[in-house]
Amino acid sequence: MMTVHRVGVVGCGLMGSGIAEVMARAGLDVAVVELDEASLAAGRRRITSSLDRAVRSGKLTAAERDDALGRVGFDTGFDSLADRQLVVEAVVEAEPDKVHVFSMLDKCVHDDAAILCSNTSSIPIMKLAVATTRPESVVGLHFFNPAPLMKLVELVSSLLTSDATRTDAEAFARDTLGKHVIHSPDRAGFVVNALLVPYLLSAIRMLESGFATAEDIDIGMVDGCGHPMGPLALLDLIGLDTADSVANCLYEEFKEPTYAPPPLLSRMVEGGLLGRKSGRGFYDYRT
Ligand SMILES: NC(=O)c1ccc[n+]([C@@H]2O[C@H](COP(=O)([O-])OP(=O)(O)OC[C@H]3O[C@@H](n4cnc5c(N)ncnc54)[C@H](O)[C@@H]3O)[C@@H](O)[C@H]2O)c1
Repeated sequence: MMTVHRVGVVGCGLMGSGIAEVMARAGLDVAVVELDEASLAAGRRRITSSLDRAVRSGKLTAAERDDALGRVGFDTGFDSLADRQLVVEAVVEAEPDKVHVFSMLDKCVHDDAAILCSNTSSIPIMKLAVATTRPESVVGLHFFNPAPLMKLVELVSSLLTSDATRTDAEAFARDTLGKHVIHSPDRAGFVVNALLVPYLLSAIRMLESGFATAEDIDIGMVDGCGHPMGPLALLDLIGLDTADSVANCLYEEFKEPTYAPPPLLSRMVEGGLLGRKSGRGFYDYRT
């Protein structure tokens, strides 16, 4: 069994920053890679403010926050990933971008036994595995948002993932990061999004058709069903661009109308109304 100490995270947006934080808090040496200095600085700010929140809520001491931050290195090139034993890709939910990242990881990560993971919400792992010369080392490790708070990780093996990779990745997520692991077959959307996305899209259709207001839809599911947040608020948290890409990927795979993104979602994405990350989505966050 591989003991993992040196890890990497590619993409330090909403999810990559959370995953890097979880790894740093677990005592690992973390190398973060982003596209450019501005995205890297934004990622560092996201990690810092999340760690600050953990200190304010008494989950971490100030010294533990500083130690965790001190374990994270930030870079714009893949060279810092050369000696990594496990890397999680968390770039935008677009197959060409992810295929590019996996071909880069294949070239840059020296250890053939290193585990190459994707945090994709929907793209079949096989499509990423075959971008490398080592598909047996590629596996899906799907964290949930926000990664430091959500316990679940979906483990997705492709038909080519080796038993050693699957076993080591599961042990890493469960024992090193303290996550609950469930297993999913390599089908678009895996377990959770295959169930969740039709529900979220139904809420958009309900709003779009004038059936109910955004507030009433969300209050209905919070106060009527005990959900921690309503579907439209959740979409704003996920990011409408990501939700749209995930829905398209599911529709592409299954061709079921329940996965087709409603026109309102597509128009909002085209208009840059992406939810919390852009300041406006189904709700306005600019005040
Ligand atoms: N948003 C969610 O709720 C959620 C939940 C679980 C999983 N995911 C998945 O996590 C992944 C990331 O989603 P997100 O919400 O963090 O997106 P995001 O847009 O917040 O972040 C993506 C980051 O990737 C960076 N990036 C893009 N191309 C890159 C490259 N070639 N090299 C390095 N960095 C690159 C971007 O600069 C950006 O900072 C997606 O696959 C998404 O489906 C998202």
